[in-house]
Amino acid sequence: MKNKSLGVALVALTLLSATVLFVGCKKEQAATDPAATETTQAPAPEFAEVPLDENGIPYISEEFGSEDIYYAPKGEATLTINQIPDSDNSECLISNRGTNNSGIYVPVDDFRCNTINVATSVKSMNANILLSLQYDIYGNTTYVTIAQCAPSAISYTRVGGEIQIPNNATNISVYIEAGDVKDITVDYIRVSVVGDYIDPATVPVEELMDVSDYPSLSELYSDYFRFGVAIPTTIVPNENEEFRNLVSHEFNSITLENEMKPENILDGETCLADPATYNESPALDFSSLTETLDWAQENGIGVRGHCLIWYSQTPSWLFYENYDVTGELASRELMMTRMENYIKGVFDWAQENYPGLFYSWDVVNEAIGDNGGLRDCYWLQTIGDDYVQLAFQYAREYADPSIELAYNDYNEYQPSKMEDILEMLAPVAEAGNIDVMGMQSHMTAGLSVDSYVEAMNTYADELGVSIMITELDIGAPNSANPLYDQGVYYQEFFEGLIAAVDAGTPIESVTVWGISDDTSWRSNTTPLLFSGNLAMKSAFEGVVCAITGDELTIPDDYVVVEADYSPIYEDYENGEFIGFTRYSSVIEVVSDNPYEGESCLCNSEGTATYDGYCIDVSRFAGTSIHYSFAIRCDTDTCYFTADIENEWPHIEEIDTSSGEWILVEGDYDVPANLTYLQLYFESIDMTEFYLDNLSIMVIEEGAEEAELTEETEETAETAETSEQGT
Ligand code: XIL
Repeated sequence: MKNKSLGVALVALTLLSATVLFVGCKKEQAATDPAATETTQAPAPEFAEVPLDENGIPYISEEFGSEDIYYAPKGEATLTINQIPDSDNSECLISNRGTNNSGIYVPVDDFRCNTINVATSVKSMNANILLSLQYDIYGNTTYVTIAQCAPSAISYTRVGGEIQIPNNATNISVYIEAGDVKDITVDYIRVSVVGDYIDPATVPVEELMDVSDYPSLSELYSDYFRFGVAIPTTIVPNENEEFRNLVSHEFNSITLENEMKPENILDGETCLADPATYNESPALDFSSLTETLDWAQENGIGVRGHCLIWYSQTPSWLFYENYDVTGELASRELMMTRMENYIKGVFDWAQENYPGLFYSWDVVNEAIGDNGGLRDCYWLQTIGDDYVQLAFQYAREYADPSIELAYNDYNEYQPSKMEDILEMLAPVAEAGNIDVMGMQSHMTAGLSVDSYVEAMNTYADELGVSIMITELDIGAPNSANPLYDQGVYYQEFFEGLIAAVDAGTPIESVTVWGISDDTSWRSNTTPLLFSGNLAMKSAFEGVVCAITGDELTIPDDYVVVEADYSPIYEDYENGEFIGFTRYSSVIEVVSDNPYEGESCLCNSEGTATYDGYCIDVSRFAGTSIHYSFAIRCDTDTCYFTADIENEWPHIEEIDTSSGEWILVEGDYDVPANLTYLQLYFESIDMTEFYLDNLSIMVIEEGAEEAELTEETEETAETAETSEQGT
């Protein structure tokens, strides 16, 4: 099996005192390892055939010690295999990483149409490591994050997760990248199938749909706002014209999903080759954009520029003296000059080449941190607290007045984040340097539409800006009819937007973040309007119905849900549990001092406080429940929290300071009309915690009771009685 990206990789291979060296690069680089000086160029490695486990299912376990090779450098990177001292095992050092997304990849085409579990263990000075999936969908490349961690530099940190590989994917690989270009050491990479294996040979890639008869969103919504979509530049040269046709037929605005980000516009090769010349004014390269922007112009499609100043997808060399990441960070003065010249360079280019094409630009993206306040990043470290104000000041100075300047962020509708954003932007608005609040809106069906509209109005009123919904994608709920329920929610959401515009909310554009579920960065939540082969989803129909007033079609395979009030009980004795991690913690059954019996559950390695153990109890909507559990933790406080329509009330605040098991019980009224409710356990500071004897049962059926059939009522009652008996 060969991966096409090897075409650009120069691969050098040597076997010197148990060291194998691979160099993948645009330009050849000297490796730091002394062995590198003795390498000779060798042909690209032939990937070994993926081995089968005892059940005949593909299973990769790359431990870097064998002659069978399942990996190669991704982008510009040197891979050195070293034997771990005093051990028979080897590890792989990834050095000379040219960009944040250069690293190591493993081709996984043999796993197409399966859900896979990918696990690795890494050491690194990078603040975060990402485990990602890359594949092509009918010629368009998609990148999806599988999991991430904050690694230690001295000991290994495990990171892993599950991901569904779309049926229509080709050129599929998993890879390791980081938020910065520092070295990464990898102990192993494992890829295994989750659940029943589907042989990809039995699942052909589907035919693409003819999209020419679909109703046009931009036409339907022309009295309300522009309707946009994020696209990759690959859709223009793509031999599958259906993607281009869909975009020009449905939408009148595009955002380039990745290609106008700092890492793609800043010309590293030129700056690094001649840092003295470009010291104050980084070289810029727009050549990869021409084809797409010309096409947009020819088709009368407006463009949102995304994005100028961001902590992510920005090369770290930009922030160093002489662009040398091994040296010192540049001074505030130098970084202000670089920022000003970079912003000027981008707007000058836009005005010179595409006057009138860009109607808005994200000047600053995601400056607020996940735990509140300004996010720690190179811009903050080098320039200081006023970097956001400066960016907008320069943008106002150099952008054509027809380009509306935006601040863009996620979770922007959450009250605490809103407070931080409003505080940060107050002086920018005061100075008259901002025109738009960019609401990214990466959501899950269920979020209260009223509170979302309220958030839009608050931004508009307090900052005097208009609103653009910039990256809309709404994950399907975890329900019996996820895609239909998602359609219902899309309809409600757009009805909310229409009513808001009618009531005066200044919404100028709504952009969905991707064309199809398979090309979405959140593909496993199927959050978009079209499925992999561009078939219309209920989500699309919901958006159409919101404006036409038509009824959403109930699909033929609609599952009528009978109330299921069967109780939840987990003592972990048989090793099983139904819950899951919220985001990135590790959850395992352990025998470490359980509350009762032989086992309990341990939640560890979260990278945020809310990375806890989570149980979905949406089916209890409208009832009163009784919960009880034992919890133990070596920190002062743990919480039992509800994740409910974008609010996270603590149901219990538990004093765990004794370090002993604490038994907790209580009742909770679950609101009716919920799309989803999850209950989760978390510790206040990410300390690992233990759970045992967890029970959740319905004690009073609620509003929906009347709708239950006699039969389901009986089932529920029987279940309840039997639980009380245990
Ligand atoms: C995402 C892209 O969709 C992915 O392809 C890429 O790998 C990572 O970035 N907020 C933003 C967008 O402002 O730029 C991000 O886009 C999603 C979150």
